[in-house]
Amino acid sequence: MVFLIFLFLSGLVSGVKIPTLKAAEQAVTAHLENIERNTIKTIKTKDADIFDCVDIYKQPAFSHPLLKDHKLQMNPSSYPMVIGNDHHHGNTENESNGDENCPEGTVPVHRLPKDVILKSTPSRSSRSILQINHFFRPPFYHKYVAEVRKNDSITYGAAANLNVYAVPDVGPNQVSSSRIQVMNPAAGAYLAGGWTVNPKLFNDTNTRLFVTWSGDTDGLFQECYNMLCPGFVQINTKVKLGMILKHVSLFNGPQITFKIYIFNDGRDGNWWLAFKTPSNVIGYWPRKLFRNFANASELRYGGYTSCRLGETCPAMGSGRRPSQKHDHSCFFIEVQYLDVNKNVHQVSDEQHIPFANQKDCYDVGKYLHYSGGGEAFGFGFGGPKCKM
Ligand SMILES: *[C@@H]1O[C@H](CO)[C@@H](O)[C@H](O)[C@H]1NC(C)=O
Ligand SMILES: *[C@@H]1O[C@H](CO)[C@@H](O)[C@H](O)[C@H]1NC(C)=O
Ligand SMILES: *[C@@H]1O[C@H](CO)[C@@H](O)[C@H](O)[C@H]1NC(C)=O
Ligand SMILES: *[C@@H]1O[C@H](CO)[C@@H](O)[C@H](O)[C@H]1NC(C)=O
Repeated sequence: MVFLIFLFLSGLVSGVKIPTLKAAEQAVTAHLENIERNTIKTIKTKDADIFDCVDIYKQPAFSHPLLKDHKLQMNPSSYPMVIGNDHHHGNTENESNGDENCPEGTVPVHRLPKDVILKSTPSRSSRSILQINHFFRPPFYHKYVAEVRKNDSITYGAAANLNVYAVPDVGPNQVSSSRIQVMNPAAGAYLAGGWTVNPKLFNDTNTRLFVTWSGDTDGLFQECYNMLCPGFVQINTKVKLGMILKHVSLFNGPQITFKIYIFNDGRDGNWWLAFKTPSNVIGYWPRKLFRNFANASELRYGGYTSCRLGETCPAMGSGRRPSQKHDHSCFFIEVQYLDVNKNVHQVSDEQHIPFANQKDCYDVGKYLHYSGGGEAFGFGFGGPKCKM
C-alpha cells in the first residue's frame, strides 16, 4: 500500500508515466544474470563475503548504454607524482586480507542479494525506483557532513590518507562514512571514495572500502555504489570494492590508515581510482559517463552520516569530536589535490575551508599535528551518536 502511494506520487511529481517495480526488478535480474554468465570463478572470503571473478571484458560497466564501444584501458597515461616527501603514518590496510585474488583476465565483483540491490542502488534502467528514492529521501533522511573543502580553483583530482575506524551501532537505515569527494556541480557529477559502514547495502556493520558516484549524462540523477550499477570499470584483480577493512584504529592505540587517489587522466579524460599508492589503480570511470566532467571545481575530505528523521544518528569517525591528538579523533592526513599534470600538492592552510552542517553533533578541527613517521598536518573530525 505504502509502495503504491510512492508510485503514484512519483508519477505525479516527475510527470513521467507511472513506473513499475517490475521494470526495476527486470533490470536488476538482468544485471545479476550478466554477472553470473560471465563469472569464471567465485571467491569466498574468510568473512564469508562472496566475490565473483568476472571476465574483465564483460564486467557490469560494459552493459552501460554509453559504454557499448568503450575500449578497455589497463592503465592511465601516467600516474600522480608526489612533489616532495609523502610520509607514511602508522600501519596501512592490507590489500587483500589474505583472501584469494581473482585470476588474470577477471575482476572481483561483490555479490549482494537481489532485494538489497533493488532497495539501495537501482540500475540505470530502473528509473522508477530511482525517482522514488530521490524524491522521498530529502524529507525522510538527514545527511550530515564534517569536512574540509577546497574550492578556490580548478583541480584534476584529490588524494588523502584516511584513518580507519569501526563504527558500532549504525542502524539498518543509517550510514557512517569517511571519504574524499571530487566534484563538479556544474557538470552534475561527483566521485567519492573511502570507507563506509552501511548496513542497508551490506547487511552488517563492518567497515568497508567503497566508492560512490553520480553522473548526469541525460538529466537523470543517479547515485551508484561500487559496481552495483554499471559504470565503474575495474582492472585490479586484488583490490575488491566492498571488501572489509579488517584492521581498524583503536582509541589511544595503534592507528590504521590507507591512502586513496581519484584523478583525471588528461589524455582521455577518464577518472581513475588508486588505493595505497598512485600506481596501484583499482579502475576508472570512463569520461563518457559524464557530461563535461573534465576537471573538479570542488574537493571535499571528511565524514558523512545519514539517518532518518527522529532517529538517533550514528557516530562519525572514531565517535569523538575533533581533537589535536591523532589517536583520539578520526583524522585525515596528506590532504592533497592534483594539478593538470597530475602533480600532487598539499592543500595549504589557506585552502582548508572547514564545514560542518550540524556542529552540535559532528565537527571538524583544523590542524592535527601528527608526527608518526614524519611531520605533517591534517585534521580531525567526527562526533558521537547524536539525537538532533
Ligand atoms: C596481510 O595479508 C598477508 C597475507 O595473508 C599477511 O601475511 C599479512 O600479515 C597481512 N598484514 C596485515 C597487516 O595483517
Ligand atoms: C566555493 O566557491 C563559491 C563560488 O566562489 C562560493 O560561493 C562558495 O561559498 C565556496 N564554498 C566554500 C565552502 O567556500
Ligand atoms: C542479513 O543478515 C542476517 C544476520 O546475519 C541474515 O540472517 C540475513 O539473511 C541477511 N539478509 C540478507 C538479505 O542477506
Ligand atoms: C573545467 O570544466 C568545465 C566544465 O565543467 C569547463 O567549462 C572549463 O572550461 C574547464 N576548465 C578548465 C581550466 O579546463
